[in-house]
Amino acid sequence: MIEQTPDGSLTVFSEKYQQHYHSSHGAQTQANVVYLQGSRTHLHPAPKVLEVGFGVAMNFLTTLQDAVSRGVPLHYLAFEFDPVPAEMLREYTQAHPMSGHAVWQKVLELWGQSFQFVLENITVEVRVEDVTRAEFPEDWATGFYLDGFSIAVNPEVWTPEFCKKVASSMQVGAHLATYSAAGAVRRALQDAGLIVSKHKGLTGKREFATAEKPPS
Ligand SMILES: C[S@@+](CC[C@H](N)C(=O)[O-])C[C@H]1O[C@@H](n2cnc3c(N)ncnc32)[C@H](O)[C@@H]1O
Repeated sequence: MIEQTPDGSLTVFSEKYQQHYHSSHGAQTQANVVYLQGSRTHLHPAPKVLEVGFGVAMNFLTTLQDAVSRGVPLHYLAFEFDPVPAEMLREYTQAHPMSGHAVWQKVLELWGQSFQFVLENITVEVRVEDVTRAEFPEDWATGFYLDGFSIAVNPEVWTPEFCKKVASSMQVGAHLATYSAAGAVRRALQDAGLIVSKHKGLTGKREFATAEKPPS
């Protein structure tokens, strides 16, 4: 079910998880503040973003918009084990400023199974896989978007074991961003060797976390 959030952008309610896909304080604001800026992807000259999970592409479209407006190359690798129906994805994104962009049109055309393509300087890979079993590239990401549902209903993407795999996929100096500032999440990221910071929630009162990979 598609619903409006206070900043005018849309979110989706997941019947399976009984949770919204984005912050109920503003889906677009969360994508900008927590993910794009929190991971410092908006400052990177050639971002390589790894995302768990792709959902309904709010983070992707926000990142695409930033890369296109800055004229920088982007490599976006996202995992999603439960793709929403193509009609829902189309409807959810139709009002987004990037909805008519050739890269997004290509994603819609290929949606439903794993795919990869390159259009000009944008590379997009979406893998329909369970991230707990998927192979991540090593020392690869400049920015990591850790965006599962909450630890209460989607615990497997927040475990210490999974956070180690996440950290291994990040380049030294890369930043991870996540909407969750839960103690267990911050500890798991810390135990994986990352330097964790907690930020005042700009999307409502909730805090969020970022984590940097230091040199080993
Ligand atoms: C909060 S939503 C992500 C919202 C998305 N980042 C966006 O910008 O629209 C969480 C997503 O993670 C996916 N997910 C949860 N557990 C997963 C797993 N083990 N493997 C792959 N995807 C998973 C869910 O299916 C869901 O689409």
